[in-house]
Amino acid sequence: MILITGGAGFIGGNFVHHWFSRSDEPVVVLDKLTYAGNPLTIAAHLKSGRATLAKADICDREAVRGLLQQHRPRAVLHFAAESHVDRSIHGPGEFIQTNMVGTFSLLEETRAYWSALAGDEKAAFRFLHVSTDEVYGSLSETDPAFSETTPYAPNSPYSASKAGSDHLVRAYHHTYGLPTLTTNCSNNYGPYHFPEKLIPLMILNALDGKPLPVYGDGQNIRDWLYVRDHCEAICQVLQKGRLGETYNVGGKNEVKNIDVVTTICRKLDALRPKAGGARYEEQITYVADRPGHDRRYAIDPRKIEREIGWRPAETFDSGIDQTVRWYLENTEWIDSVRTGAYRDWMDTNYAAR
Ligand code: NAD
Ligand code: TYD
Repeated sequence: MILITGGAGFIGGNFVHHWFSRSDEPVVVLDKLTYAGNPLTIAAHLKSGRATLAKADICDREAVRGLLQQHRPRAVLHFAAESHVDRSIHGPGEFIQTNMVGTFSLLEETRAYWSALAGDEKAAFRFLHVSTDEVYGSLSETDPAFSETTPYAPNSPYSASKAGSDHLVRAYHHTYGLPTLTTNCSNNYGPYHFPEKLIPLMILNALDGKPLPVYGDGQNIRDWLYVRDHCEAICQVLQKGRLGETYNVGGKNEVKNIDVVTTICRKLDALRPKAGGARYEEQITYVADRPGHDRRYAIDPRKIEREIGWRPAETFDSGIDQTVRWYLENTEWIDSVRTGAYRDWMDTNYAAR
């Protein structure tokens, strides 16, 4: 079996779905169930008994140790993190705690568990660390895309804490021989995405008739990857990745924020037209920029294409179509995440903009 940290979150939850579409191997999800974790995301697999959920903090070494001893996984896939840049600006402490101290705790307990394995079990064990392209900092419009050798230059507390965790993973391979793999992926989107992030926020605000808050001039560029393509990349790196290596994951889908928002608006115009012929784009509102806002991210995926043979299945057009339709159809999940705590966050981040 495999152990997944953060498996009740956006990417981890999609990963659980993806895993069971290609394998029967059981999964244990270790998740603290912060505001971003939602058991409903993986409810079908919990009900079927193929996945088990252990509510625990990766910083709690005793809990992590107990789960490793109890379930004896052949791999640990580490998705758990504080993941939202704007939250890291308002309160960086949790990011240092979970992303750096938590990754350290998980590495220490995994190292102890792996060291006690023998023979084939030890040789086959893997620790796969899920990271982000944001560790490389910001590109100008003409800079080449991020490769695995681009120097780290994180600009937000979020990306700095992820960079710290990447360095720890690297050090545990070099120093202790822990069989690690790291993936650095670009922006994901798709089902079960918590609506504090750009794409789900815009879909839900549009449907609610609320302003669509575009930061700064809306010209910032992100390299969007459909979440199931990322999940497939992780499966393939787990299977075929070279130990100690890092792999950049991206689908060559660079889009300006304003174009992402207008694409969503036009999809909604077609799928859920507003009364009287009004258009969703009329709700777009430019608001104060994010402090330290990275201008452009772009991934050079040639290493994962060459060594692993991975390629994305979705284009931005096909992925955004599926995503908008999913948000139109899954009101139960949406209602479950738009709790009081969500409304508090919306006030914290947007009221003063
Ligand atoms: P998310 O915020 O949706 O989910 C994070 C999950 O981790 C939640 O289920 C949460 O409850 C859990 N968690 C948080 N702190 C924890 C702790 N201390 N102990 C145990 N569980 C804890 O994040 P996501 O978007 O699914 O991102 C998953 C991983 O992928 C992160 O490591 C992130 O840095 C990375 N990543 C995300 C993106 C993206 O676009 N979302 C892109 C590249 C890489
Ligand atoms: P986000 O989804 O938070 O991802 P990240 O900051 O990790 O790339 O934001 C994506 C882009 O959208 C980023 O350039 C910031 C911008 N953005 C807005 O313009 N308005 C918003 O309300 C949000 C949440 C993001």
